[in-house]
Amino acid sequence: MFNKAYGIDAPPVIRHLAVVAIVAFIIAAGSYIVLEIHHPIWAIILLILFLMIGIWQLVMLLWMLYSSLAGKMIMRDKLIADLQLNGDEILLDIGCGRGLLLIAAAKQLSQGGLAVGLDLWSKADLSANSEQQTIALIQKEQITDRTTLKTGDMRQMPFADEQFDVIISSMAIHNIAKTAEREQAFAEITRVLKPGGKIALLDFQFTKEYMRHLKALGWSHVHRSQRYWRMFPPVHIVRGKK
Ligand SMILES: C[S@@+](CC[C@H](N)C(=O)[O-])C[C@H]1O[C@@H](n2cnc3c(N)ncnc32)[C@H](O)[C@@H]1O
Repeated sequence: MFNKAYGIDAPPVIRHLAVVAIVAFIIAAGSYIVLEIHHPIWAIILLILFLMIGIWQLVMLLWMLYSSLAGKMIMRDKLIADLQLNGDEILLDIGCGRGLLLIAAAKQLSQGGLAVGLDLWSKADLSANSEQQTIALIQKEQITDRTTLKTGDMRQMPFADEQFDVIISSMAIHNIAKTAEREQAFAEITRVLKPGGKIALLDFQFTKEYMRHLKALGWSHVHRSQRYWRMFPPVHIVRGKK
């Protein structure tokens, strides 16, 4: 059920949740011990308050771990299945990381098809993120003949115009902090995709904004899925046709 091959998303956030949970439990226990005799009401109030804060942090931490170790595999399978690939597509995974979408998509390709992964290998966004790690997984899955990696930034992609039939991405575009720079990424997506090409973007944040960018760039069939709770934070999939 659990698969750690594709890494833990946002490791600093996981660490932060763990620290806050531990501190909250320590404060809950400490304030109860100190206040129990002379201020029993406050001892109970602070105990309950800090226990609730600690438990909430712990729930989010466990949900995020489930998301990285199981939930994202389920969402990956849905995103790829709904693409209904023919097998001969030239496909790009933006912010491919350890190859979650890239590898699953490449397995659907046959002669003539190619899956390209673009990333700048940020370790703050994904645990043990590196090109070498992803190459090792591609080799293990025996798909080196239809998979290639490129180091680069989605705001300025190292690709020619109208090169790809399909563009996919999971939990990557939100990592660009500024709206104008995300807009730049969508201009790049539009530039490198062939006319009639399609997109499927999974993300937990800014998905309404992604739809606005696509519509402003003249895309059709722009649609945002329901919210899926198998990942934390919960995600939507945005699809569209250039
Ligand atoms: C949370 S990880 C997700 C990785 C993978 N798509 C997955 O779902 O497992 C986000 C990825 O986006 C990449 N990334 C962040 N900003 C990027 C940028 N401006 N250009 C290209 N890749 C970027 C990070 O290096 C990281 O690999």
